[in-house]
Amino acid sequence: MTDDRTPQNVYDDPTFFAGYAELRRTESGLNAVLEQPALHRLLPPLRDLRVLDLGTGFGTFARWAREHGARRVVGVDVSTKMLAEARRLTSDLAIEYVEAPIEAYVPERSAFDLVTSSLALHYVADYAAVVARVHEALVPGGRFVFSVEHPMVTARAEQEWLRDASGRKTLWPVDGYGSEGARHTHWFRDDVIKYHRTIATYVGTLIAHGFTLAALDEPAPSADALAARPELESERRRPPFLLIAAARS
Ligand SMILES: C[S@@+](CC[C@H](N)C(=O)[O-])C[C@H]1O[C@@H](n2cnc3c(N)ncnc32)[C@H](O)[C@@H]1O
Repeated sequence: MTDDRTPQNVYDDPTFFAGYAELRRTESGLNAVLEQPALHRLLPPLRDLRVLDLGTGFGTFARWAREHGARRVVGVDVSTKMLAEARRLTSDLAIEYVEAPIEAYVPERSAFDLVTSSLALHYVADYAAVVARVHEALVPGGRFVFSVEHPMVTARAEQEWLRDASGRKTLWPVDGYGSEGARHTHWFRDDVIKYHRTIATYVGTLIAHGFTLAALDEPAPSADALAARPELESERRRPPFLLIAAARS
């Protein structure tokens, strides 16, 4: 078992990586249908921006940002396998990938106009330290836009619905909401460590470090998405993602 404070590199576990890569390849996950469109809605116009993407994974956002006018993107990730794929997918010299834990990466001061992070910060133990570093990395007026698994999802280590005898989803249980910290979850393998924090902590820490809250979203599937994929109905019963946009003063 990994020490709860040591950054875990579960994406380099072959079983985990194979499961995650397949999920993203088939886009049977919720990233494409819910999380990415919601994140894009919270972004400022990207033209000429210098962007830092924390937990960049396959570099999906880095490439998208460049296609939408960003001047330069630095993508940070702890996983060798994820970054190997990210590098394979582009030859764009304005995208730089850095292999490092978010916790250890110290960006240059005032070097970025926008910092993003898509579904990575719930893997980080010390959120306040990241927020402080992001504040230093941004120019005044710069934006920090990120998504995490929703605290109603991370509250319990067993991230599962309660079901009746026929297997029908009856309730999404929320318990331990106020007890922040590590959760040893199962996702493609055992002992995937995620960190639960309340919404108050996500927002309050930003404000305490000199950010103002610009937007907060808990996206649910649209009527069109439900018509195409009726199984998404349960994503209206509990929010899968929390998205926050903050401005550096
Ligand atoms: C769910 S994936 C999201 C990837 C990408 N942001 C996207 O949305 O397509 C989470 C990513 O965060 C990375 N990650 C997790 N913990 C990290 C840490 N402590 N430091 C750096 N990267 C981390 C993983 O290796 C993985 O690539």
